[in-house]
Amino acid sequence: MIKTDVLVLGSGSAGLTFALEVAERSKLKVLVITKKDRSESNTNYAQGGIAGVMAPFDSFEAHIRDTLIAGAGLCHEDAVKVLVHEGPERIRDLMHRGASFTKNTGGTLHLGKEGGHSTNRIVHTKDLTGKEVERTLLDAVAAHPRIKVLENHYAVELISEHNLLKRSRKTRSCYGAYVLDDLTKKVHTAFARHAVMLATGGCGQVYMHSTNPQIATGDGISMAYRLGARIANMEFVQFHPTSLYAEGSRSYLITEAVRGAGGILLNLAGERFMVDYDERLELAPRDIVARAIDAELKKRGESHVLLDISHLRDKARKEFPNIYAKCLEYNIDITKGPIPVVPAAHYSCGGVVTDLNGRTDIARLYCCGEAAMTGVHGANRLASNSLLESLVFARRAAQDLVADGLGPSAPVDIRPWDDS
Ligand code: FAD
Ligand code: SIN
Repeated sequence: MIKTDVLVLGSGSAGLTFALEVAERSKLKVLVITKKDRSESNTNYAQGGIAGVMAPFDSFEAHIRDTLIAGAGLCHEDAVKVLVHEGPERIRDLMHRGASFTKNTGGTLHLGKEGGHSTNRIVHTKDLTGKEVERTLLDAVAAHPRIKVLENHYAVELISEHNLLKRSRKTRSCYGAYVLDDLTKKVHTAFARHAVMLATGGCGQVYMHSTNPQIATGDGISMAYRLGARIANMEFVQFHPTSLYAEGSRSYLITEAVRGAGGILLNLAGERFMVDYDERLELAPRDIVARAIDAELKKRGESHVLLDISHLRDKARKEFPNIYAKCLEYNIDITKGPIPVVPAAHYSCGGVVTDLNGRTDIARLYCCGEAAMTGVHGANRLASNSLLESLVFARRAAQDLVADGLGPSAPVDIRPWDDS
């Protein structure tokens, strides 16, 4: 049996932030269990950045309004307020941990723009923001003596009353998880003395065409569902409007920041079709642009549309060096011509229902990040609000857990995993 004080499932921005915040605020031992290599996560592939009110020309009211509009009337306003008000401080925390974000020549943060945002407010590291966030958090975790990371282990089931030898407890609680060691193919019992954090991300891989890496199979959401936790808004799967359409490419994302920087969408006849769909054109919220592209493809019987930034060639190369290099692999030079794109499944707006401190319906089970449904996204997440949500709510969950007092945990006898 593997034993720890706090068990964290997942090593993306949500899981790592929670692990750090718990370890730094207490004497608890934290074990992070993750499916593959520790950096393999949606977080690691994030491009555009993290939304936050970081400039004097911006305001909390504007960010809240943009989030509520993008969410199509289904966001929980209390959760949105928490997200927006606490966001800037969490971005600064990341900077204190060593994250390096792109700056203007004067040293202020370079703030990008994306669909649905009324102003420039996206903090980013060129077009590789997620890599920088993941690197920063993993470095901090590696330096912390009370956090351990176990790679290549899959949580396959959460442990609850029905897995105990003596079923004495009345409330539904979570005591850990059964985890499959992918190398030995053995299932171990991982017991958490105090709490379990579900930070296993979304389920983009349910779709054939997804921007998500292969880890995103919704494991945490289904495990929580099987335990009886409420799950909500799973019908709101966000499709990103622009993933690369090229022979042999696995739905590589072309960040919305390309449109924010001036990129335009054209059909194969060279018409700027967004004028027919929304007055905000290419910078309408993501669901509107994705549906417009889908409608255009169906109407015209075409396989893809075009995203053109070649009229801003210096900017294209300077601000999106990774996308420039990736497209060249497919003989597409973004400084000379348009990029063929199609929508692809991108983000799970729904998930395990939590309160504003990451608590689920199950005692001792927290959830945050893309696996959670905090209420901030409604029917459609505003661009770059996801990394922000991970940072804000992971910290709140850690605070909640530590503030709880953490008396001695009662011993429990857990049945070993039964292969049959
Ligand atoms: P993840 O980062 O996906 O981490 C989940 C972790 O759980 C992984 O470590 C995984 O291995 C592990 N895991 C899964 N199942 C199990 C299991 N059964 N057992 C053990 N471990 C498990 N959002 C933004 O805000 N800004 C952006 O610019 C942005 N760009 C994006 C670009 C791309 C290509 C993608 C795919 C997403 C982007 N997003 C962006 C969304 C954002 O990256 C994610 O929503 C966010 O990073 C989710 O963080 P997380 O920690 O909840 O999940
Ligand atoms: C992107 O860079 O377009 C993705 C941003 C996001 O998913 O928030």
